[in-house]
Amino acid sequence: MKPFYITTPIYYANASPHIGHAYTTVVADALARFHRLNDRGAFLLTGMDEHGGKIQEKALTEGIEPQKLVDGVAEEFRALWEKLDISFDNFIRTTDEKHKRAVSAALQYLYDRGAIYKGTYEGLYCVGCEQFKSESDLREGKCPDHDRVPEKMSEESYMLKMSVFQDELLESIETDRLKIRPEQYKREVVSFLRGNELADLSVSRRNVEWGIPLPFDPEHTSYVWFDAFLNYLTGIGWEGPGGKVPVQWPADIHLIGKDILRVHAVIWPIMLLHLGVELPRAIFAGGHILSGGKKMSKSLGNVIGIDDLLERFGVDGTRYLLLSAGKFGKDMDVTMEALVDKYNNDLANGLGNLLSRVLTLGGGKISSEDVSDSERERISAEVCARMKEADTAAALAEIWNLVEECNKYLEETKPWLLRDKEPEKFASSIGLLLGKLRLAGELLTPFLPQSAGKIKQALKTGEKIILFERVK
Ligand code: MSP
Repeated sequence: MKPFYITTPIYYANASPHIGHAYTTVVADALARFHRLNDRGAFLLTGMDEHGGKIQEKALTEGIEPQKLVDGVAEEFRALWEKLDISFDNFIRTTDEKHKRAVSAALQYLYDRGAIYKGTYEGLYCVGCEQFKSESDLREGKCPDHDRVPEKMSEESYMLKMSVFQDELLESIETDRLKIRPEQYKREVVSFLRGNELADLSVSRRNVEWGIPLPFDPEHTSYVWFDAFLNYLTGIGWEGPGGKVPVQWPADIHLIGKDILRVHAVIWPIMLLHLGVELPRAIFAGGHILSGGKKMSKSLGNVIGIDDLLERFGVDGTRYLLLSAGKFGKDMDVTMEALVDKYNNDLANGLGNLLSRVLTLGGGKISSEDVSDSERERISAEVCARMKEADTAAALAEIWNLVEECNKYLEETKPWLLRDKEPEKFASSIGLLLGKLRLAGELLTPFLPQSAGKIKQALKTGEKIILFERVK
């Protein structure tokens, strides 16, 4: 059976992972874990984008071979994902031999069919984005994302025909055959496609050695995005055009950040249309994490390190803070002070304290009372609806309504005063709280897998546990 197939972007292997990479990957992991609860199961792909000018440049400044650079960075990413409990099914690297062979075969296939032809490319290029720029993309002559003046390029290059599929792509997006979500991003892409005739895309580089050579002209290497996009197919075992399309395909969700929406919504589907491979079902674009209202940067001194988060808040604390950082698709502002408050309020006091109070009162001695089917169904349906929009923050808020309801109930009924005088009422109120906690634990499984397991275990044994220590 085809599993729910979800991908993260493959991250550039030129620098260590940061909170933005972690955000996208943790959201993808929660979605994958959520879908694994169904019979259909899920497949989560993540990995590394290891070719191109940007990596070549970095290796040169470090005075090491590019392969050595990417091996080291890939190890850092993989170790971080393991620490964060990312349940990836494959970790693809674009320097894998199998991937390179499939990309090479795809290039040859498109060249043989005339979809790729020899031409010249003239224009501006930002190596930071590894993307072509038009004058209107620039601010004061610089790329706004990388604050650098793009290079003027004029060179012989192999080009991929784009406009032949423009109408088909536009129609697929308008009709949601290829869903782009949230809706605001769909509107952006639709208006871009309506307003611009797509120029053919340069898919080769003469001056970048660190890449996959074109099989029909080894003086050139593949444009890094052409190489990178195919990871979504090679990562599930695709060996090239004409071969079998793996069962996982089409991707149910490509989860990305809004910075790489345009390329995903235009270049990638057109590559697939040329290759005769079905389009992905959906592209979900997330907003960016900002720190104190600004993009994080070393010079501003506002960088929140992912290791720092893990050290302070632990694995599930960090996952919680990322997953609840804000509405999916919108930019999210975080500061260390606000994170500490949120952790203490929601996790240490909200959930952790509730669990230990209820366990102290009745754990192991009182049996829990099942939450009614209608309540269980109502909450599950709410969580499910939010997860359909990848809105993990809203899904968690639904679960926290349940936690708050329990805390309020505890304060209002004060069961500790009933223990001796009204033992039956005491038992039923604790039973009810235990049942709701059990439901909260089940619902939390995809988000905070370790804590969900601990809650389940503690409710079974009655052992009092401290789920989240307060932090300063
Ligand atoms: N290698 C390309 C993607 C190729 S996919 C075929 C790339 N890599 S990247 O390392 O720059 O990662 C970009 C992604 O990291 C963004 O799309 C987003 O998912 C994530 N983030 C990077 N900074 C971010 C924030 N500040 N906040 C949230 N996510 C951001 O682009």
